[in-house]
Amino acid sequence: MITNLSPQKIKISLLVVFLFFDFFCCDVFIFAQNIEKNTTKLAYGKKGMVVSAHPEASKIGIKILQLGGNAFDATVATEFALAVCFPIAGNIGGGGLLVFRQKNGEIGTLDYREKAPALAHKNMYLDEKGEIIKDKSQDGALAVGVPGTVAGMYALHQQFGKLEWKKIVQPAIDLAKNGLIVTEKEANKFNENQDAFKKFNIHISAFINDKKWKKGDILIQPALAFTLEKIRDNGKKGFYEGEIAALIVEEMKKQKGIITFDDLKNYTPTFRRPLLSKYRGKTIITMPPPSAGGLLLTQMLQMLQPFDLKNLGFQSEKYIQLLTEVERRAYADRAKYLGDSDFFPVPIDQLLHPKYIRERMKSFSFEKATPSKDIQEGKLLPISEETTHYCVIDEDGNAISATTTLNGAYGSKVVVTGAGFFLNNEMDDFSGKPNAPNLYGLIGSEANSIAPNKKMLSSMTPVIVEEKGKISFLVGTPGGSTITTSVLQTIINVIDFEMNMADAVASPRFHHQYLPDEIQYEETNLNFTEKLVKNLEKKGYFLKKRIPIGRVQGIKIMPDGRYEGGADTRGDDTAIGF
Ligand code: DON
Repeated sequence: MITNLSPQKIKISLLVVFLFFDFFCCDVFIFAQNIEKNTTKLAYGKKGMVVSAHPEASKIGIKILQLGGNAFDATVATEFALAVCFPIAGNIGGGGLLVFRQKNGEIGTLDYREKAPALAHKNMYLDEKGEIIKDKSQDGALAVGVPGTVAGMYALHQQFGKLEWKKIVQPAIDLAKNGLIVTEKEANKFNENQDAFKKFNIHISAFINDKKWKKGDILIQPALAFTLEKIRDNGKKGFYEGEIAALIVEEMKKQKGIITFDDLKNYTPTFRRPLLSKYRGKTIITMPPPSAGGLLLTQMLQMLQPFDLKNLGFQSEKYIQLLTEVERRAYADRAKYLGDSDFFPVPIDQLLHPKYIRERMKSFSFEKATPSKDIQEGKLLPISEETTHYCVIDEDGNAISATTTLNGAYGSKVVVTGAGFFLNNEMDDFSGKPNAPNLYGLIGSEANSIAPNKKMLSSMTPVIVEEKGKISFLVGTPGGSTITTSVLQTIINVIDFEMNMADAVASPRFHHQYLPDEIQYEETNLNFTEKLVKNLEKKGYFLKKRIPIGRVQGIKIMPDGRYEGGADTRGDDTAIGF
């Protein structure tokens, strides 16, 4: 068995030193610091932990905890900080989904997903022949859904926050004003997108640099600081009404977008009851629709439950087959049955019924692949991948697992003039036409068609796992259609393969989504040896190497009560505990 190098194995010698600190200083514990990237992949803490896609955002979250804020305060601060230091996905112009667990054990979810503007309609991305107009739902002002992030954060704080709102928003403002040191990964992404930034914007935004971005450059964002100040001073209204709303509507007018003042004013986030299930004695708490991710994850774990995965072996031939077949079946259901449950009757109970799950796996055999063309939805009883996930926990055990997004890299690429933030291109998550693949190759049907004020289906799958009534771990990731299968594999890594959090998130991954009918595996995944690939091909599977899958973050609660944070090695992601 090969599991690619885990960070804590690289820095094992540090362990002894930090264990010393652990016993005698009881302060900050950091293992496996990646010195080149100034990011921390494995961290321990007793009083709190934040794991996010960027060191600055994790630091700001921790600072809020240290100031006496709770995990909800730190979540708001981290979300706003990501909008500044991780503009490819962190946002105030997008939306997200999160799952929380309060210190008293009460659980819930918050849906702050974008929604279709009131002027949106079913065929808005089709030409006169009824064909999809390429890119219309992906780039520019018409691709933008009504943003949900600011309203979501405000509602979360109103409900559960402890510190003053102003105090929580301020660190993001300081970061935008004082400037941010651009990492190598960020510089590369900015450079790749310079043409798009110019094409979809009339004004010169902070992200344009004719000399090319390089590592160590300072990014200062005065317009974004101005917007955040309005949010700091006026809460939700600072974004959805007044000056910032006017700037958004002005941008829409200039660029033929359709979001109006009413769309902005009417946006409200929704607290929803979580989806609960049992996997090997643990309770999986996740997001209901408009997340497809939560439902698919639940289906897949139920299909896997009868199998001894540990015995099959980590990423062995049989393990890969089993997960592939489970994923194929779940994603076929996604295409047919899933959409915004406020608009379409999603048959959640039927899709999760034990009898349905058993029926679904009846055609599975280790002998050969079940081609996707032979699988339909069950009878009832290239890729741009930028979203981001973060996890927060405080000393009392309040915990939040949040995934937030602009959809594609930098969303629609439109920066609101004078307000300094990117708007999402979330409209592409609708099914613009039955069976026409979206940015992630996902297909859909009536359930996920466009309608005014409807929410587009999401793969985002924030999860909290409980065991015996106590919190066990938190997990989530970006990755478009691969989100759900990355979360699935990480949960299996922790529960079945008993990995620590850093190993669980760093481990190599693979993915199948029904259509296209192929197993995609990371090109760095050494478990996919030539021999294994040949064996799978003989059984009728199609295989394809690809770029990294997901950027998973997680926090595990150790038997001694300490927190173990794991940040994905695939990016600048950083775990900080204290
Ligand atoms: O909600 C969704 O499913 C997508 N908008 C998520 C996009 C994403 O994860 C891009 N990621 N890296």
